[in-house]
Amino acid sequence: MCEVICIANQKGGVGKTTTAVNLAASLAVAEKKVLLVDADPQANATTSLGFHRNEIEFNIYHVLIGTKTLSQIIQKTMIPSLHLAPSNIGLVGIEKEFHNQEKNSRELVMRKKIKEVLNSYDYVIIDSPPALGPLTINALSAANSVIIPIQCEFFALEGLAQLINTIKLLKKEINPDLKIKGLLPTMYSAQNNLSKQVLDDLVRHFSRDIIKKDSMEIVTIPRNVKLAESPSFGKPIILYDIRSQGNIAYQNLANSILEGA
Ligand SMILES: Nc1ncnc2c1ncn2[C@@H]1O[C@H](COP(=O)(O)OP(=O)(O)OP(=O)(O)O)[C@@H](O)[C@H]1O
Ligand SMILES: [Mg+2]
Repeated sequence: MCEVICIANQKGGVGKTTTAVNLAASLAVAEKKVLLVDADPQANATTSLGFHRNEIEFNIYHVLIGTKTLSQIIQKTMIPSLHLAPSNIGLVGIEKEFHNQEKNSRELVMRKKIKEVLNSYDYVIIDSPPALGPLTINALSAANSVIIPIQCEFFALEGLAQLINTIKLLKKEINPDLKIKGLLPTMYSAQNNLSKQVLDDLVRHFSRDIIKKDSMEIVTIPRNVKLAESPSFGKPIILYDIRSQGNIAYQNLANSILEGA
């Protein structure tokens, strides 16, 4: 059975795209069939995999408005079992397109489109934009579970309650299957007191919801320059620097997911 995982946090720059791309690549290298859906008009996941925004004619926008099917826009990547449903800045127009549809049907458009390809994949990973708008709502409505990256910085937990409430509401109203797979502390730096404090706060308030390795050790993503560099080479970290701490951390995350975390 295919599992659909949405990576979401309405805060900007917390590591959503880095997590979506590198988790997708790590699962694909573990011989799972993976589709990465770029549901953000910034198209950062698309460029992180080496595609230039404007060289692709059709993207997720065309799927959501119904002029293309998802299979028609899917691109192969340098990892054979990793496919990409690309995005483009034109996706910002989707809000206008959704405007005239009824609330329930417009929140389920992405779910319907993804359903058509579920048989072809083990995992679908959705990268979402930094807003709790229609695209994130569609991504959460399409998902079985959500991973919430939390940047280990001041204000990290701000907005988290609102996101968790939105998830609870969606679960009640349109997607009863939706689970919080876990909170993922990102850009963690053991030398930085603030970073440690944010992690302590997370453990204190959300201990059950933090992703763990071998059901014990907390999975954290360290601040690692290789993770920041790899998108500019159009590669996931596993192909850019396999020995880096960043890659080891995303392997740990992928292993926790494969173990059914
Ligand atoms: N663990 C890390 N170590 C170092 N740099 C990181 C790490 N994770 C992400 N970055 C860098 O931080 C920036 C923001 O990360 P990313 O794009 O993944 O966040 P995002 O939540 O997707 O942002 P947005 O909300 O704009 O979509 C990027 O420049 C990225 O390369
Ligand atoms: Mg992003």
